[in-house]
Order: sequence, then C-alpha cells, then structure tokens
Amino acid sequence: MKAPVFSRRRRVLADAFNVEQYRQSARKVLPSGIFDYLDGGSEDEVTLRRNRTVFDSWALMPSWGPVSGPDTSTTLLGKATALPLTLTPTGATRLFHPDGELAVAAAADLARVPYGLAGLSTVPMETIAEQHPNLDRWFNFGLTSDDQVLKKKLARCEAAGFHTLIVGVDTRALGGRERDLRNGFTAPPALTLSTIADIARRPSWWVNFLMSEGISFPNLSAEGSAASSVVTPTMWQHILGHSEASSGWKELVALRQAWHGKIVLKGCVNPADVAKASGIGIDAVQLSNHGGRQLDHMLSPMDVLKESRQRVGASIEIYVDSGIRRGSDIVKALALGADACSIGRAYLYGLVAAGSPGVGRIIEIFSDELRRTMTLVGVSSIPELKARGGEILRDIRHSPEVLEATAASSMH
Ligand SMILES: Cc1cc2nc3c(=O)[nH]c(=O)nc-3n(C[C@H](O)[C@H](O)[C@H](O)COP(=O)(O)O)c2cc1C
Repeated sequence: MKAPVFSRRRRVLADAFNVEQYRQSARKVLPSGIFDYLDGGSEDEVTLRRNRTVFDSWALMPSWGPVSGPDTSTTLLGKATALPLTLTPTGATRLFHPDGELAVAAAADLARVPYGLAGLSTVPMETIAEQHPNLDRWFNFGLTSDDQVLKKKLARCEAAGFHTLIVGVDTRALGGRERDLRNGFTAPPALTLSTIADIARRPSWWVNFLMSEGISFPNLSAEGSAASSVVTPTMWQHILGHSEASSGWKELVALRQAWHGKIVLKGCVNPADVAKASGIGIDAVQLSNHGGRQLDHMLSPMDVLKESRQRVGASIEIYVDSGIRRGSDIVKALALGADACSIGRAYLYGLVAAGSPGVGRIIEIFSDELRRTMTLVGVSSIPELKARGGEILRDIRHSPEVLEATAASSMH
C-alpha cells in the first residue's frame, strides 16, 4: 500500500504520467487569468485546436524485426543532445513560478537538451550562464537596423556564451488574445476587485508572487542594466505590442554577416521562406505558428514540413513547434523530415506544477514516450527514424475511413 502524499507538488511528481495531467495541475495552481495567458490562443483559437488535431492526420505503420536501444541521442547545430528536443523561448517565466527561467535552465542542463531564453525573460542571461556553464544556451534575438545597437547586443550574447540566436518572425503585430482581453490580463498583475477575489482562490501562488522580487526584463537592453527596473503594466503593453514589422530579410542578412555563431529563424510556415533562409546561410528554421497565439487560421508546421524538407534538402536543420505534447508527435515530425521538435507550454505546465523537477519530469515523459514509440514502430536510432520515415508513416487524411468519420461528425 502506498502512503498518501499531501503536498500537491510531490503528488504530481509521483503520479502524473503525461503532459495533460501536468496541464490540469497547472490550472489548479495559477490564477485563472494567468493560466489563460499561458494556455490560450488568438481569436477563435482555430489554429490552437488544429495544432493538436493535425497529428491525427498521420498514422504509424510499424515494421516487424529486431530493435536495439533505442538510442534517442542526436546532434543539433553541431552539438550532441540527449533527445531531438529543445525548450523554446517563453517570455516572463517568473509569472508562472518564482524561480522562472533559472528553474527551466537547470532542468534542461540536467537532461542535456538546448534551452532558448526569451528576449522577454526575467533572469539575466549572465546569471543563467554562471549557474549553467554546460547548458546549450540559445537566445531569442530581436533584429535591429541600428549597427551600434546590433554590435552591443551581439557582444553581450557572445560574452555570456549564448552562441545560438533564435530570430522570431511571427510577431509583426500582437495576436488577438481574446482570453486576455476578457480577463483584463496585465503583467505584473494589477490589484483589481477580481484579482483580490482570486487571492482567496489561489493563495499560495499569490504569496509566492508577492514575496519574490518584482518582474523585470533584464535581457532586453544591449548593456543588461537599463531594462532591469520593474516593468509597469503600461510598459508591458508596449513591449508586447512592440512590432518588428519594419525588419525583414535585409536585417537578417546583416545579422548573418555580423554573427559567426548559429542562427535559427523561428515562426514561418512558408516553404519559400525556408528556402530563402537556407540561401542566405541561416543554420536552422523552426516551423511554428507560435503555439496558435499569433495569426489565427495559420497553417500548422506539420502541414508544410515535408514540402519544406523537399525544397531545402539537407542544407539546413528544420525544427517543429506548436502543439507538441507526445513522444509520438516527435516520431511523426522526424519521419516527415524534421531534425527536432520544440516545446513551449508543455515545460511551463511542468514548471507551474512542480518547479524545476516538474520541467525535468516533462522532458523525461517525452523521452520515455519517444523511446517506447520508436521501439513499437521498429527503429533503433534517430538517424534510422529519419532515413526510414516514409516507411513508417501513412497520411490518412484522405483515407475512406477518415472521410466517413469527418462526414458523420459534421452531420451532428
Ligand atoms: C506563455 C508563452 C510565452 C511565449 N513567449 C514567447 C517569446 O517571448 N518569444 C517567442 O519567440 N515565442 C514565445 N512563445 C511561443 C513559443 O516559443 C512556441 O512557439 C510555442 O509555445 C509552441 O507551442 P506549444 O506551446 O504548443 O508548444 C511563447 C509561448 C507561450 C505559451
């Protein structure tokens, strides 16, 4: 007989065995407005929902034969990693847990997977570097047409050992996050009648939040100090609404010339953009619709993965994010031509529910599910999975059974 476990954190770590259970646990911990900010998408959330259902469009077709391992290790941008998985940038992580980005970095370091720190992160990049010198550190870099600012920002990344820059291209305007509008969401949370009511419902989150240092964004400035002051709700709106609409390929080419480290272009789903990125010497493209948080009705990365790979061959690495929740999602993406998958919300659920060990447990869940799926499918390594992808995956979008099921559900 197992003894009962009274701490929610220890209970979830002991009992939860999939990402959805961590999501449910996070829902119980966070004030509802903050959970909606984490979990929600834009406008009608068509893209958010599609990010999950799209994975049902492909079915796995195992082949029988011996399997060894399987070995999930691989190489991303020339560095060995334990899994074809990266933790992708999510801003303002200390809103979700007082240890914020440091807790995520610790788990990624332990699991030997890369971690992309957001430009809007709440812990200085230098602190992450000091505490995790062996972590494969990536940074979400904002383009600029000012040469001097560019030089200073690059020098800061270089000095802190963030050798891979992730350039986001899907925030030319802020997505219409209607849950946030309905909730009157601000960060840091402002004291209103509804937040006071919320304190009664989620006291432990509020105690942690009020007792910890104020939220600030120390990685926005080139020098690392100017933006360290606490950000007011108005400034937050400004930062979130800050559009990169005026930057484009010209600034990206300038960045390529100025930076000898790696560059990942994140946030496109257009195979023509992937080809163009490859043509100017970008090292990887992360196909993404920002987890359904930006342009609603946008394609899923899975819709364009095969075509993207066909356009660029092996000239560039391709990653996929948006909706990755299962090890089998990784198997499907790699079979269609990806080199790795990236997770956003999944690790945040782990962080909210159980801090750094929760993030570690989420990575472990992906690792276990990936291993199990590879074994059942009949592949022993990541190179084998990529090479034999066409044999183990069937596109079932147009199969008679799927068409029949779709027709039946549309009649209800
Ligand atoms: C709370 C939250 C904050 C995010 N902040 C950023 C950010 O600062 N920069 C960025 O490029 N993407 C950001 N994203 C998008 C993620 O990098 C990623 O594209 C997305 O979360 C992937 O979808 P998934 O959450 O379904 O895994 C954020 C996502 C979430 C959920």
